Amino acid sequence: MESHYYLSSSPIPYRIVCRLPYSTVNQFKFGLNLLNGIFDEKNKFGLLIYKNEDKSLTISRNLCRHAGGNFVRDIEEGPEIVRCTSHGWKLNTKTLEYIRPKMCLKQKQLTIEEQNDGGLFILEPILYEPWLINPQLKQDLQPNEMTITYLNHASIEIQAGNEKLIIDPWLIGPCFGRGWWLFHKNESDIFNRIANADAIFISKSFPDHFNLPTLREIAKMNRNIQIYIPQFIIDHFKDQFEQLGFTNVRKIPFGIWQKLKNDEECLSRFLILPDHKLSNVDSVILFEYKGHQILNLVDCLNPNGEYLPYSIDVLLTNFTSNTSAYPSCFIEQFDQEKILEICQKKDEDFIKKIIKYIQLSNPSVWIPFANYFIEAGPDDEQIRQINWKNNPQSVGQILQNRFPLLKTWYPFPDGKYDLGTKIGDQPSKPIDDYLKKSWNFQPYISQLDQSLEFEPLKTIEGIKEYFQWTKFNNYDLILHIIETNNDFSIILREYFLDFLGPNPTLSESCPVSRPLLRIRCRASVLRDIFIRGYSWINLYNGFSGRYFAQPNIYHSKFWNHFKYNLPLDPPQWIGFTQQIPPNVVQALVKWEDQSSITLTMALNSICLD
Ligand code: FES
Repeated sequence: MESHYYLSSSPIPYRIVCRLPYSTVNQFKFGLNLLNGIFDEKNKFGLLIYKNEDKSLTISRNLCRHAGGNFVRDIEEGPEIVRCTSHGWKLNTKTLEYIRPKMCLKQKQLTIEEQNDGGLFILEPILYEPWLINPQLKQDLQPNEMTITYLNHASIEIQAGNEKLIIDPWLIGPCFGRGWWLFHKNESDIFNRIANADAIFISKSFPDHFNLPTLREIAKMNRNIQIYIPQFIIDHFKDQFEQLGFTNVRKIPFGIWQKLKNDEECLSRFLILPDHKLSNVDSVILFEYKGHQILNLVDCLNPNGEYLPYSIDVLLTNFTSNTSAYPSCFIEQFDQEKILEICQKKDEDFIKKIIKYIQLSNPSVWIPFANYFIEAGPDDEQIRQINWKNNPQSVGQILQNRFPLLKTWYPFPDGKYDLGTKIGDQPSKPIDDYLKKSWNFQPYISQLDQSLEFEPLKTIEGIKEYFQWTKFNNYDLILHIIETNNDFSIILREYFLDFLGPNPTLSESCPVSRPLLRIRCRASVLRDIFIRGYSWINLYNGFSGRYFAQPNIYHSKFWNHFKYNLPLDPPQWIGFTQQIPPNVVQALVKWEDQSSITLTMALNSICLD
């Protein structure tokens, strides 16, 4: 059996393609290098190696995606272009995009790990095509034998034979602070439906997929239900299911078929695949029954490195990319016309991405989902107006023009798509009747407002404590935080953080001539994030900040850290025990019924006799 090689920071298993000694690496010229005659255990193969201006290497196999031909240089087309000697496909070795034919196809990029002696391990994910292992024969389905029912947003139920799997239930309250609210009404009895399923799969730890208030209700009804979660290297779920009361939680490794139930009769199985951009954050699920496959890409940025099973039955994807602060919350950076232009360009590009996924997976039907939220909250009227989004029907129309044989089905609550008949339900009432018209804002927003009473964060010491806890440092950035009331009209406080040194330093004025990121934000949401050690995705995706960067760049190191790499244990406010009045602690803990459980850990040592 093939041995697996792991990088220290990723759950993706690799195989070692080859090792390049330093004497070889040292001879690479800038631009394209062709390396031929390498041997692994079975074959002789070649590599395409592009050395970039910053000396980094972009490496792929010298193997054409069309039918396995080999490439040679194509000087006429350009110094980085190669041409396949079999049927003439052309590849840009710098971007790894095929330029002929223009099909949005990309070449697999190999991963590099540098060794102490300057040599390189060249690695390739093993997971490119794990669904080919132990294939199922495709059998005919009876009507209603295998169905997908839409519940809400990214929540679906897959029913296959006698088994039922629920994916990513979000049915209560807001997500991302107070930014996202459900677009659709829940159908009656939905909690019973979920609690009586065979299993629940949670694809990632974002609140619109791992929704604590929803799961808390389900735990009250059936704490023994089987829960499946991806086995990420960084455990973002960290005991939270157990704290909710669930007794039956299993971490699933990537790329290995899992039976839905531990039962001889069970014919349903699934496997999860990693996102190659955010391998510790996102996952994809492939569900199979009697050889029929449902591929749910959730909203991954680079699902399985864009290697997807071919000729599947159903492909589920999201339909818009305008789900976070950029560009709608950059209203201090761009005018409204520019914001609209960026939104539309982003979503045009997003449609190209869906087209690519359809080319790669060739589904019978495309189902848009996982973007059914609305910025309905009080004081978010402006965002609601300017955050332009694709609508599923217009995307579907473009797809059908491009792929005449592709079916589309637009989900609605309790609507069902039948894989046996290949027919989706049609709404039995006007579509408007499925939409939510009112939301219960008050308890959620007033609870966020409680964070303003948290004494430690009224002090500079508390702010310092928080930023030390984040462990973000040695980065040339001044962060200017302006805390405001909920409609951004009144400034409550402002301060500057300098991340250049080993510890962030705080001041009341801005050092000159340094890269600046200014965040004008709702103090209630920001302080709630600070108290509980939440990801800043709650601020960023939740439309609770207004951003301005000088120079105008996206500080990916800063954002990746504050969105995905904060410490797993929340700040310990131990040194501040005396400062928190008991009534504030009570109020904050009470919020746990609606939002968080990590607060218990944060306040464990200081609250509630
Ligand atoms: S194998 Fe390369 S173009 Fe056909």
